[in-house]
Amino acid sequence: MDNTANPAFDVTKRLRATSPKSVAIHEEAARVMAAEIVGTVEIACPVYIESASGSRLTDVDGKEYIDLTMGFGPHVLGHRPASVEKALAEQITRGWHWGIHNPLQHRLGELLLEAAPCGEQVVFCNTGTEATMYAIRAARAFTGKSVVAVFDGSYHGVHDYALLVAERSSDRRNPAPRRRGAGIPSEILETVAMLPYNDEAAFDIIRENRDRLAAVLVEPVQSSNPRTDIGPWLRELAKVCREAGVLLIVDEVITGFRLAYGGGQEYFDVDADLATYGKALGGGLPIGAVAGRTDVMSVFNTGSERARPIFSGGTFSGNPLTMAAGIAALTEMRDTPDLYPRLNGLGDRLAEAINRHARQHKMPVTMMNAGSMFHLRFAEGQIRSSRDITSRYVKAEHVFYQHLQECGVLVPGIHLAFVSAAHSEADIDAVAAAVTASLDTLRNDGMI
Ligand SMILES: Cc1ncc(COP(=O)(O)O)c(C=O)c1O
Repeated sequence: MDNTANPAFDVTKRLRATSPKSVAIHEEAARVMAAEIVGTVEIACPVYIESASGSRLTDVDGKEYIDLTMGFGPHVLGHRPASVEKALAEQITRGWHWGIHNPLQHRLGELLLEAAPCGEQVVFCNTGTEATMYAIRAARAFTGKSVVAVFDGSYHGVHDYALLVAERSSDRRNPAPRRRGAGIPSEILETVAMLPYNDEAAFDIIRENRDRLAAVLVEPVQSSNPRTDIGPWLRELAKVCREAGVLLIVDEVITGFRLAYGGGQEYFDVDADLATYGKALGGGLPIGAVAGRTDVMSVFNTGSERARPIFSGGTFSGNPLTMAAGIAALTEMRDTPDLYPRLNGLGDRLAEAINRHARQHKMPVTMMNAGSMFHLRFAEGQIRSSRDITSRYVKAEHVFYQHLQECGVLVPGIHLAFVSAAHSEADIDAVAAAVTASLDTLRNDGMI
C-alpha cells in the first residue's frame, strides 16, 4: 500500500526517525514481554523514558517532553519532589520491605483518615484494583447482599468485578453490562449491575434493587468524562443509597489528594460509607487503601466479634518504602495552602484556552476537565456522559496525539491527562499552543 500521501503515515515516520533508541528497545522487548505495550500506554511511536523531573520527562533518545501523564495520576506534586526523594533515600538505608508491621503504617493511616471525610479506619493494599476489590468484598460481607452496581463509563481497576462496560446498543438510561475482554466468567454478570452515570434514572434502579444491592461504586469524577457539574447528582446519589440501605463506595483512586486534599468527597461535599484510594496516596509508589466507617471496616478485623471476617492480605501491603513516600507527599500537600486552588486554576487555564480555540474554529473537540485531570474528547455537541462519545473520530484522535508528541507533549494510551504542582503557567501555555497547533494540523488535513 502506498502510504506516502497519508498525513498519519508522515508523522509516524518522522517520530520513528527521531527515536532510534526507543524503536530498537521496542523491537527487542516485544520478543520478551507478552504485552509489551498495554493499551493504557499505547503510543504510535514508542517512547522509553530515561528520567523525570518536575513537569518533564526525558526519553532514551534525549528528547524532552512536558509530561501530562504524571505516572497516570499519582504525581500531584510533579516528578521527584524533594520531600519524597529525601524520605525515600532515608528509608532505603533502613530497609524497604519486612512483611512485619512498621510504625509508618499508622502514621500514613492517620494522615489518610484526617483527609478522608468518611474515614474512621483504614486498610492498606498495593493498588487501586485491590482497594476496589476489598471494598466490594467488605460491602458484601457487611450487608449480606451480593450485587454491586457500577456506572456506565466507569473504571475501577482490573479485577473481574470491575471489568465491565455498557453494551453500546443498550438503553442509555438502563445500560446492560458486558464483560470487558476475555477470561471473565459469565457468572460475574449475576453479581454486578450497571447504572447510568449523571442520570436520575440510576436512582430508581437502586431503589428497585435495594434488596439485592450491597453497594454502589462510583468515581466522583469519571476519568472518561471529567467534569465538575456533577455535585448535585452525587449528593442525591448518596441520599438515595442511604435511604435504600445500600452502601456508597466512593472510588477516590484518582481524585483523592488531587481534586482537593479530601478528594471528591470534600470537593463535592458528598457522604460515603467507604472510600478507596491509590495513586497519590503513595507519593508515587504502588499503593491502595480502603477507608470508611468503623462498623463497616470491622469486617476486616479477624480479631473482632464477627462470625466471619473477610480475608485480606498482601506481601507488600504497608511496606515501609511506600509508607515513607506517602507520608512525605501527604504532609507536603496538606501543608501547602495554595496547592489545590493553584492546581485547579492551572487545569482550568488549559481547558479554557483549548475550548476557546475549538469553539472559534468550530472543531468537534472539548477539553473536559475537573481541576487538574483532563480528557480531550472528540465529539460533537454537549457531553453528558461517556455515552455521548462516538468512535467517529478515533483515527483523528490517534493522529492528534502523534502531532502532540512531536510538539514535545506526551499523553499516551487512554489519553487521560494530568497536570501537577510542578507545571508552571508557561508549561500550561506551551501545552495549549501544542494542542491547538495539532488540532489545526488535523483540520488542515481534513481529519476533523
Ligand atoms: C478510579 C480508579 N479506580 C481504580 C483504579 C485501579 O488502580 P490501579 O491501576 O492502581 O490498580 C484506577 C486506575 O486508574 C482508577 O482510575
